[in-house]
Amino acid sequence: MEKNDRLIRNTAEFAERIFKQEYSGHDWFHTYRVWKMAERIALEEGAELAAVAAAALLHDVDDRKLSPQTYSAKQKAVDFLRSQGCDEQFISEVVQIISEVSFRGTDSVVPATIEGKCVQDADRLDAIGAIGIARAFAYGGNHSREMHNPDIPPECNMNEETYFSRESTTVNHFYEKLLLLKDMMTTDTGRKIAEQRDAFMRLFLKEFLDEWDGSC
Ligand code: ADP
Ligand code: NI
Repeated sequence: MEKNDRLIRNTAEFAERIFKQEYSGHDWFHTYRVWKMAERIALEEGAELAAVAAAALLHDVDDRKLSPQTYSAKQKAVDFLRSQGCDEQFISEVVQIISEVSFRGTDSVVPATIEGKCVQDADRLDAIGAIGIARAFAYGGNHSREMHNPDIPPECNMNEETYFSRESTTVNHFYEKLLLLKDMMTTDTGRKIAEQRDAFMRLFLKEFLDEWDGSC
């Protein structure tokens, strides 16, 4: 037990160091929130806490956008866990959870284990609701994207390749990803939390589009 506590504390410090300089919606506090939410879901769902916490904390250290050269092997996560003396079985469990987390349009996967489901739901919950809205506009500003352009319609049902190559507006990102996440939750706990966040996001979008046309 104590060994796991030390591992999680060290992992949190490692992740915090990596993300300190990131402000694009992928900062340390994103990882912090995913960690706390994944633990909450794991407790309710009866999942194994150490693997959930380690994977949540490391889920973005080999992100495809931030660290493309280590993305496929999850090399930073693997090297870190080895440096902590974790056994190879645990490391491969964590790597599998991380590999299954990410949103890839219609190519997204349902994680094979309950631990993977907890982390994936937690990561997706952080993309919706009030924080999700803030992150989307932060990302859009950071990537010089328009907030909204009524002449560019959203594109639904994109596969992995189209999703990652598309240049679009931030409001379209809601229709292309964020509003789909509620129905992609794979735990009962995640789904319940997603419903409230999704409703808030829809209210926000309605207000935004009404204000756009000067009708409210
Ligand atoms: P994560 O896997 O942690 O959700 P992503 O890299 O997919 O990470 O996205 C980081 C944040 O930026 C999320 O909140 C996401 O909704 C937002 N984001 C990603 N792509 C876009 C986009 N094209 N427009 C606006 N926000 C985006
Ligand atoms: Ni994430």
